[in-house]
Amino acid sequence: MNKKNYFCEVTTYRQKKILFDIYQNIFQDNWCQKSFIDYINNSWVNSFLLFNELKSPIGVCMLSNILNELEIIKFGIKNQYRNQGFGFFFLNEIINLYKKKKKENIFLEVSTKNVFAIRLYLKLGFEKLTIRDKYYKKSTNKFEDALIMKKKLIFFDSN
Ligand SMILES: CC(C)(COP(=O)(O)OP(=O)(O)OC[C@H]1O[C@@H](n2cnc3c(N)ncnc32)[C@H](O)[C@@H]1OP(=O)(O)O)[C@@H](O)C(=O)NCCC(=O)NCCS
Repeated sequence: MNKKNYFCEVTTYRQKKILFDIYQNIFQDNWCQKSFIDYINNSWVNSFLLFNELKSPIGVCMLSNILNELEIIKFGIKNQYRNQGFGFFFLNEIINLYKKKKKENIFLEVSTKNVFAIRLYLKLGFEKLTIRDKYYKKSTNKFEDALIMKKKLIFFDSN
């Protein structure tokens, strides 16, 4: 992975608007910009942007950060940049950041059908915890199960 890719924590209004655009590009949810920014302004939400070597924003990560536990709310790379190592680079950097901040665990939930994402998370050291049946409603009678995953960030010395 090219060292000139970089990520930043989203703090300014300008970065929040960029985050919204990239988020909508990746996930096409029904947020309006104002509600989205109100949500990420919550003190327990931490948001990050990934930029490529041309300084274009290409990835988003939003996490909840409560006490010693983190949970990935959303994580994604723009379609045309997928499967080139960006997701691994980005999430690995975020994990290292929170290891330094002495957070204990990071959790996430992902559709059992999302095999690429699951492969990425396993490669980053997440373990499978449990399955929540029919967690995602896809259409009237279509559901997908959710896989809950966890990665330990710090290990306590048992001596
Ligand atoms: C899941 C996602 C974030 C992965 O990001 P990415 O930049 O494509 O991932 P990487 O290129 O870093 O791949 C890392 C690993 O993931 C797996 N992987 C990712 N994309 C893959 C693909 N198209 N085919 C096969 N394996 C794939 C591989 O194991 C890969 O490691 P390898 O190349 O050494 O085999 C990206 O596909 C995405 O944004 N998807 C849409 C949003 C989403 O589903 N988010 C996750 C749930 S919230």
